[in-house]
Amino acid sequence: MSELIFVTSNPHKVEEVKKIIANQYVLKGLKDLNFSEEIPETSNTIPGNAVQKATFIHDRFRQNCFAEDTGLEVDFLNGAPGVDTAMYAGPQRNANENMELLLHNLKNSDRREAQFRTVIALYLENQLHCFEGIVKGKIAKKKTGNGGFGYDPIFIPNGYNLSFAELDSEIKNKISHRGRAVNKLLAFLSNYNWTKNN
Ligand code: IMP
Repeated sequence: MSELIFVTSNPHKVEEVKKIIANQYVLKGLKDLNFSEEIPETSNTIPGNAVQKATFIHDRFRQNCFAEDTGLEVDFLNGAPGVDTAMYAGPQRNANENMELLLHNLKNSDRREAQFRTVIALYLENQLHCFEGIVKGKIAKKKTGNGGFGYDPIFIPNGYNLSFAELDSEIKNKISHRGRAVNKLLAFLSNYNWTKNN
């Protein structure tokens, strides 16, 4: 069975994608490779960071791999926090502080439109492919719900009256930026014609 490295140190993300990829690929995270170095993320775009992470690991291990990067883009803030989403309120990457800062920066605005964007960069047989997943919605005026993570309590996807933190996780995974990008990756992999005997 073909082996794919998911460029993440987060075992939860590996398990999540493993469930979807099921029996088609042996999925390995960076922990499975005993790799714990910090990977540079110095691009000022989301696709740039995804490509940078995938390229770093591909150069090191010469194996098929993919990396993802996600950002929240708010129209009124001209696309911010964007690449700074994780560290919007500072390098401590605190979800609550990030949300409070965003609510503060939008407090006088009725323009609440925003989108989550995930880009997955895949190296397969030395070729680079990118997949994008977007979910559009709006930033609520206050936090609601206990589920999910990150900015979920203040993000209301279009077509729903509930925040991501209130929605059932199955629904969130189906319509989310990450879910959509992973599904594109999987569709590509299942139609891929291998040139080697993997
Ligand atoms: P990362 O690319 O997974 O590191 O995520 C970058 C930032 O986006 C972090 O602050 C995450 O908390 C946030 N983020 C990513 N995906 C989601 C999501 O599905 N819901 C809420 N916040 C998210």
